[in-house]
Amino acid sequence: MNGIADFMSKDHDRLDGLFKEFQTKKNQETESAKNSFFDFKSGLERHIVWEEEILFPIFEERTGMQGGPTAVMRMEHIQIKGLLSSIYDQILKINFETESLESQLSGILSSHNVKEENVLYPWIDQTLSLEEIEKTLQKIHFMDLEKQEKVNPVKLEKIYD
Ligand SMILES: [Fe+2]
Ligand SMILES: [Fe+2]
Repeated sequence: MNGIADFMSKDHDRLDGLFKEFQTKKNQETESAKNSFFDFKSGLERHIVWEEEILFPIFEERTGMQGGPTAVMRMEHIQIKGLLSSIYDQILKINFETESLESQLSGILSSHNVKEENVLYPWIDQTLSLEEIEKTLQKIHFMDLEKQEKVNPVKLEKIYD
């Protein structure tokens, strides 16, 4: 069975791809670049919710560490979401000169993702039983299905195939 590390790392890759698409297209195809950024932003915000509401609590409960690595990652999430909003605001004003914000975001995101992929996700896979991993992945799916009924969703099939 593919575990948490596999699932979440693939989502990092998918999101990185959307961000690159935005950066490549923004000088020629602004409409399409905008859509790539909107998919990137909503996908990354959803990914952060999975981590903060499902994955980090597993680590925090089992290690008893509330103020450790997950506290740092939660702070980085605040910075990441702030930068996503700042870029989004500029794009809504049809201003695509967002290079400085983009490089700040790439800088935080790359080291953040490496920490998760090398430490946190593998720790979860090694600590949980196969059944618990399966249940955790189901929780992620259900969280999406619940949201899907409220808002129009990003294409789920892309990561669930
Ligand atoms: Fe994260
Ligand atoms: Fe992540």
